[in-house]
Amino acid sequence: MQTIQIKDKRFRTFIPEADILREVGRVADEITRDLDGKNPLFVSVLNGSFMFTADLLKRLDMACEVSFVKLASYEGVASTGKVKELVGLNEDISGRTVVIVEDIVDTGLTMQRLLETLEARQPAEIRIATLLLKPDKLQVKLDIDYVAMKIPNDFIVGYGLDYDGLGRNYRDIYTVID
Ligand code: IMP
Repeated sequence: MQTIQIKDKRFRTFIPEADILREVGRVADEITRDLDGKNPLFVSVLNGSFMFTADLLKRLDMACEVSFVKLASYEGVASTGKVKELVGLNEDISGRTVVIVEDIVDTGLTMQRLLETLEARQPAEIRIATLLLKPDKLQVKLDIDYVAMKIPNDFIVGYGLDYDGLGRNYRDIYTVID
């Protein structure tokens, strides 16, 4: 077991790279089985999903396209507080099969907002692929089509996920100790 320190927190190895890649490969097989022939557009949500997106797409054996988007927070008017706006999607997605690629679904609020935004652009269908899901934290009803791994509520870093901007570069996933 390897321990790493990021700022004030210590983390230990939780999911080694080999286990991650095995589950990513399984999801890639499921997606190929379901969507081959539909030329799906993968919409990868930056920053966290960059490693997952790369490994997933390398394992897909079919025609597909990929686009990278960001959810930018800005202060909304009046009492609405923080609003997240989708930036970077230039493709016309009407009539297309879209697969959202996320690093982690925690409360699900980010995903719900993203779904609403994409649905307004009238795709034929939207599927969701997430590397990680914290089932016990989910606050909204979501149909998640592809989940590589379910994890407990603890905070994790690595394989694209960060703590305060750091830790995205690690190949394994680490969980917080203290
Ligand atoms: P949600 O809206 O609560 O589902 O949050 C989703 C976002 O929170 C993810 O895209 C991550 O950026 C971030 N997040 C949630 N849990 C973790 C974690 O354990 N480590 C790092 N980032 C996390």
